[in-house]
Amino acid sequence: MSEREKEQPEIGTRFQNETKYTPDSLSSHVFNLGSIPETFKEYPNPIARISLPEPKARGESNLWKLLLRRRSRREYTVNKSLKLNDLSALLWATQGLTAQFGDTFFRTAPSAGGLYPVETYLYVRAVDGLEEGIYHFRPGDYDLEFLKKGEYSAQLTEAALQQTVVLCAQVTFIWSAVIARGRWKYNQRAYRYVYLDAGHIAQNLYLAGEALGLGVCAVGAFYDDGVNHIMDFDGEEETVIYMATVGLRSEQKPA
Ligand SMILES: Cc1cc2nc3c(=O)[nH]c(=O)nc-3n(C[C@H](O)[C@H](O)[C@H](O)COP(=O)(O)O)c2cc1C
Repeated sequence: MSEREKEQPEIGTRFQNETKYTPDSLSSHVFNLGSIPETFKEYPNPIARISLPEPKARGESNLWKLLLRRRSRREYTVNKSLKLNDLSALLWATQGLTAQFGDTFFRTAPSAGGLYPVETYLYVRAVDGLEEGIYHFRPGDYDLEFLKKGEYSAQLTEAALQQTVVLCAQVTFIWSAVIARGRWKYNQRAYRYVYLDAGHIAQNLYLAGEALGLGVCAVGAFYDDGVNHIMDFDGEEETVIYMATVGLRSEQKPA
């Protein structure tokens, strides 16, 4: 560590230090049990709510083979559409509900404290049966809320530092964090956990995409406020944290 950094730690070092668990920080933290945050988001007036087809597991199912084959894939065939059934399978793999205990619904991916602060949005460029535009996924109702109609490829690519993988993808997953959900329990440490949650979700997308013979690529390089603007996130209470593209592989073999 440089002398300057020792004297005046930069944000990364301060973040690590100030979000550390210590016996003192844990003993002084109190929950307000009366205000457990809602773990499902719903838009009051979407253009439409579109029920998703029941997710069907198809393709390769051997986990060991999938782990061996998983890659970030960036070469897509642009003029074909993704099947809605496959999109449904991917959404289920990332955030599908799998069990219920009391009021808590558990999902395919783990989440710190079962608070599920990550919301899933899609920019759909080319999917059978869906209009082009921006959608929000509701895992509980298992549907898509259609939020904004139109072509956002160029804007989203621009916000993703001109990465053409976004321009060519049939769908881009955009994950946001609703910070209040984690902050209720973890205070500032919640900011660590939203990224860990998102990593689990993205890995599920990678593996499910591999099973279906699709190309998935994580996208962590983006102008945050560029994406927040497209998505109408305020950038503080709800902010983009991660994205991933899904495309029909140009060398795609039938799964
Ligand atoms: C947090 C994170 C952010 C990433 N961001 C990008 C990105 O913006 N653009 C991109 O093309 N790949 C991105 N990747 C993919 C990595 O480049 C890729 O995982 C790495 O080169 C290893 O290759 P593999 O995924 O094929 O094993 C990202 C991966 C992670 C985990």
